[in-house]
Amino acid sequence: MTAAESTFIHRFVPAPPAGPQTTLLLLHGTGGDEQDLIPLGQQLLPGAALLSPRGRVLEQGMPRFFRRLAEGVFDLDDLKVQTGALAQFVSSASRKYGLLDNKLIAIGYSNGANIAASLLLTHPHLLSGAVLFRPMVPFRPQLNPDLKDIPVLLAAARRDQIVNPQQTSELSRILTTAGARVTIHWHPGGHELGPDDVAAAKEWLSRPVQGAN
Ligand code: MLT
Repeated sequence: MTAAESTFIHRFVPAPPAGPQTTLLLLHGTGGDEQDLIPLGQQLLPGAALLSPRGRVLEQGMPRFFRRLAEGVFDLDDLKVQTGALAQFVSSASRKYGLLDNKLIAIGYSNGANIAASLLLTHPHLLSGAVLFRPMVPFRPQLNPDLKDIPVLLAAARRDQIVNPQQTSELSRILTTAGARVTIHWHPGGHELGPDDVAAAKEWLSRPVQGAN
């Protein structure tokens, strides 16, 4: 893949000199863009560097990170190509912005959580951890990736209209089988985020092994 093929429109917010040595990779939901999750990232881990790409696929004008054939039915070829492009973008942006020594933690919501899960499963050494808000199973890996001790927070919702609880259990099982340390937070409502989701992610990121050094 050429550099041009892995270019993403994005926003980068550098960390202040004394900030945690952590970069949050912010991945928006369908119809969002690179601005969407900046306030959430600032709230979750103040002072972290923020790298926020815009999904390159348009569905009726709405940016997404990969194509889907229907609600919850993914175009797996496109998912593979877009996940590879995102991994390449993240590596080159980390070099360009001087972030190579930082921990890299993905914060994804909905479609962004799904590509973050795909990144974990296909590029297991790229991320130091991930917060997945309302994720589904992006695909079922043939071989287990090595995610030994990678911490992952799954923030699921009991009345999610899009993601059923079996998807959450299956994703948790796939990640745990690969060695990841999975924590699940259950929000009582639907697909939208609630204050409890933000509080759970903030608390999870404040644990020493996660975002804070
Ligand atoms: C997806 O397509 O990634 C999921 O269905 C979530 C969504 O974007 O609605």
